[in-house]
Amino acid sequence: PDTALPPRASGCPVAHGPLSSERTPTGCPVSQRAAGFDPFEDGYQQDPPEYVRWAREQEPIFYSPRLGYWVLTRYADIKAVFRDNITFSPSNALEKITPTGEEANAVLASYGFALNRTLVNEDEPAHMPRRRALMDPFTPEALKHHEPMVRELARTYVDRFIDDGKADLVDQMLWEIPLTVALHFLGVPEEDMDTLRKYSIAHTVNTWGRPKPEEQVAVAHAVGNFWQYAGKVLEKMRQDPDAPGWMQYGIRKQMLHPEVVTDSYLHSMMMAGIVAAHETTANATANAMKLLLQHPDVWRELCEDPGLIPNAVEECLRHNGSVAAWRRLVTKDTQIDGVDLPAGSRLLIVTSSANHDEGHFADADLFDIRRDNASDHLTFGYGSHQCMGKNLARMEMQIFLEEFTRRLPHMRLSEQRFSYVPNTSFRGPEHLWVEWDPAANPERANKGLRDVQVPVRIGEPSAHSIARPVVVERVTPVADGIVKLRLVSPDGKALPRWTPGSHIDVECGTPELSRQYSLCGDPDEAGVLEIAVLHEPDGRGGSAWMHANVKPGDRLRIRGPRNHFRLDESLKKAIFIAGGIGITPVSAMARRAKALGMDYELHYSGRSRASMAFVDELAALHGERLHVHAADEGRRNDLQALLAQPVPGAQVYACGPLRMLEALESCCAAWPEGALRVEHFESTLATLDPSKEHAFEVELKDSGLVLTVPPDQTLLTALRAANVDVQSDCEEGLCGSCEVRVLSGKVDHRDVVLTRTERDANTKMMACCSRACEGRLVLEL
Ligand code: HEM
Ligand code: FES
Repeated sequence: PDTALPPRASGCPVAHGPLSSERTPTGCPVSQRAAGFDPFEDGYQQDPPEYVRWAREQEPIFYSPRLGYWVLTRYADIKAVFRDNITFSPSNALEKITPTGEEANAVLASYGFALNRTLVNEDEPAHMPRRRALMDPFTPEALKHHEPMVRELARTYVDRFIDDGKADLVDQMLWEIPLTVALHFLGVPEEDMDTLRKYSIAHTVNTWGRPKPEEQVAVAHAVGNFWQYAGKVLEKMRQDPDAPGWMQYGIRKQMLHPEVVTDSYLHSMMMAGIVAAHETTANATANAMKLLLQHPDVWRELCEDPGLIPNAVEECLRHNGSVAAWRRLVTKDTQIDGVDLPAGSRLLIVTSSANHDEGHFADADLFDIRRDNASDHLTFGYGSHQCMGKNLARMEMQIFLEEFTRRLPHMRLSEQRFSYVPNTSFRGPEHLWVEWDPAANPERANKGLRDVQVPVRIGEPSAHSIARPVVVERVTPVADGIVKLRLVSPDGKALPRWTPGSHIDVECGTPELSRQYSLCGDPDEAGVLEIAVLHEPDGRGGSAWMHANVKPGDRLRIRGPRNHFRLDESLKKAIFIAGGIGITPVSAMARRAKALGMDYELHYSGRSRASMAFVDELAALHGERLHVHAADEGRRNDLQALLAQPVPGAQVYACGPLRMLEALESCCAAWPEGALRVEHFESTLATLDPSKEHAFEVELKDSGLVLTVPPDQTLLTALRAANVDVQSDCEEGLCGSCEVRVLSGKVDHRDVVLTRTERDANTKMMACCSRACEGRLVLEL
């Protein structure tokens, strides 16, 4: 599929009609900036998301006359393109972005070069059966046995330069290890590394670059040699098809399904596979190390707490990934963002720009290794073609970062200017010089450090890895059995901003025991988080631990803040209902409602005033709007009477004991859908009892997969085992982080996050606990 650019590429693809004349003063729909867009320029190479910031903000889709491509820059548009691989075909993914001249084409032909469809550029219906047939070696389970090899390679390479005090990490390590791992994974003999290295660069330039005419011929020879080499290796493999390796796995599958795993596929994949697995990962690690060392504070934190590494890897892939843009071909007339795209249009989807889209990532340019949704990045693509090797790449990157942080925590970036191979897609510095004082190497004092056992997490990071240290500044009793904790940052740096209704997870002595507490302070007080903790002798031990142990000056580890209980700030009226310690999120919401000038009332009930936190403070702030119902004063809150009549345009926000929340559900039966919002503290989830469960099927629409969830497994576990990323935190139906969208099928909801109306709507479910009532569920994943 080495097609030349269409003839219109150098001109304008859109008829100059009256509509388009509104778009630019010249009447041409291609704006000045779009006309100047040049992804082979150093500006794009140095920082692709910055280079197209103007587009992301003002012209999210534009036509580039230089490239002959439509360029997409926003997260939502790009994800929508990834989700529909019929309208947006991946067939041009490996096409030469710059057509070569006749001489170079003749050279390629002389080698019999015929790189064709692999997986990444294969259309349906051929692609999915092939992808399914070849997926097993990529599952987290199957990847485990590669870990010791990667670890040993990383240790041996670091040994070679650790006493030198300086290294070019790319040349001395990051290029060769992913290549070796890629060759092992594919099943290729480990020879000719240097030649392969040259070949694969040539392949990048040939596919995604703009070689000058005089370079084209040399590149063509290298690519031609690469092609022939790939063919020879494949022949060798066919002699021993039982050897380990993904290619041999493919050869065995070919014997069973020759129409699915074709000869042309195997030869093309033999070449494309090396590049897919090698350069992407080498570049990703170099980009990650550069980014981390450019942020010495973050680097220090990572050295102090390696538990942060898995999420740091995701954040590096988001912020500074190794695939900057990908391609699709429009197969039928369509529209994106109101722009007409005729069939045949070519799309350059700038995933690195999507990864910096404020519409999806709060404070998108900030490098935040604790970012909750870092793994939503599109560096691995999304949907039916999403990178199959993502978990191998993640594993390699984690291991590299673990080895560097442990053995060379005093590493710094040397003075240098970074250079990149000019191309649209594969991006990483050609050299990365770092330096350190070898006399200060930690293993000179501690010999055993080199060989420390480090467990690696294969798959998407869980929120459990994203802990943040805080210091307890003050502990104040605020009612019988309730203390308020004021938490601040240990180093004076800002804590994340939060909105009313947010909670944090606090580790109570060990990472295994964590409890969720709503934030009750004032979100405008930057750098401070306040929670109130009720001593619950019959609880699971979290609050008891807090009451017995926590004192001013202590360090705690928290996660979050996260908000699943947001106040709709556009409301005319809000009715806040709190029972007991449920006042914590509700007090923050009521404060916000007051600040917004909203009409609201606050009903607060408890056993006695002495047991109720913040009563005086609330009375001072809310005056007549506060209604205190203390049982020992004979003032129970009559919810039935309070909510008998739905108030048009109002919403009810409630937090408190389960019994109260259940009662509210029935009191609000006559209210419109979604009017009642609740926040739970306790899970009602029992442990999974396989004898009482049945297996069910889930169809994953975007990934084109059908999975069976057995009775002894949760949907979340089954998804992860199949390489589908879903975030999770509590894993007991409380927090809402594992929410997935449901397209059809009846869900047996077991969480306490969704309201009854949300359950009835049947459009989302919590993957950690909920199951199918019967039959199959279809999910938007
Ligand atoms: C596909 C990126 C590492 C194998 C892709 C795609 C991207 C990508 C952008 C196309 C996604 C789409 O069209 O939706 C990356 C990055 C990597 C990496 C950034 C490293 C950080 C690997 C590794 C392997 C691998 C290590 C193999 C061992 C594949 C395969 C596909 C693919 C086989 C084609 C899947 C299909 O079309 O069904 N990768 N990749 N990748 N990648 Fe990776
Ligand atoms: Fe918390 Fe599923 S992970 S609800």
